[in-house]
Amino acid sequence: MNWNHSWGRTVSEAKFIVFEGIDGSGTSTQSRALAAELEKSGARVHHTWEPSTRPVGLLLRQMLSGALTSSRDPDRDRHLFALLFAADRHDHLWNEDNGICALLSRGHHVVCARYVLSSLAYEGDHPEEEKFVTALNADFPVPDLTIYLDCPVTTALDRIRSTREQIDVFENEQKLSRVHAHYDRLLSSYPGAVLRLDATLPRHELTECIVKAFQEL
Ligand code: TMP
Repeated sequence: MNWNHSWGRTVSEAKFIVFEGIDGSGTSTQSRALAAELEKSGARVHHTWEPSTRPVGLLLRQMLSGALTSSRDPDRDRHLFALLFAADRHDHLWNEDNGICALLSRGHHVVCARYVLSSLAYEGDHPEEEKFVTALNADFPVPDLTIYLDCPVTTALDRIRSTREQIDVFENEQKLSRVHAHYDRLLSSYPGAVLRLDATLPRHELTECIVKAFQEL
């Protein structure tokens, strides 16, 4: 993968921070907490997530809920999912209204729950798919920091079941175990900056570690 794609920024400018982890690991909670802390300190910050709230992202949300497919087995449609996630990411990065790159170039930090590693971990978790997903995501810029929230599958499933009415198509033990193992493999050769944290730590303690890591960038 070409992780060196240039997007016309210098090192000292606004930062692009990504959160990754299996469903239930806390990517939404912790990305929101970091964005809130940065805002409190007076920084300009944009909190966002993938699938995005753009048209392809909204379609993906419906597919993830199981509403648009006759089967609740997204592995059957993994090529389609990979293509749609890449299309959503392209639009999320480069649309002119609130695209990530436009915001960064205007000096806003961007904190994003999920990005390229999610596609590799979820859609690329079969050997024959990995090349396809890698190629689709090859031109997307590498974040300044990726924060991986490492969560045991049983803890993640307990959290999901106790906090949600709707269970999405990937939120089952078999899929999350495969994705968890695949994240491990991907992170061991990932060339970007990664902070790996224990997602079972108390929420405020995790946020403190994350804010500290941001300040050290
Ligand atoms: P979340 O918003 O609760 O994290 O749910 C998003 C779901 O979409 C989650 O199951 C991971 C999945 N996903 C992919 O499979 N590929 C991707 O590229 C992204 C961004 C998310």
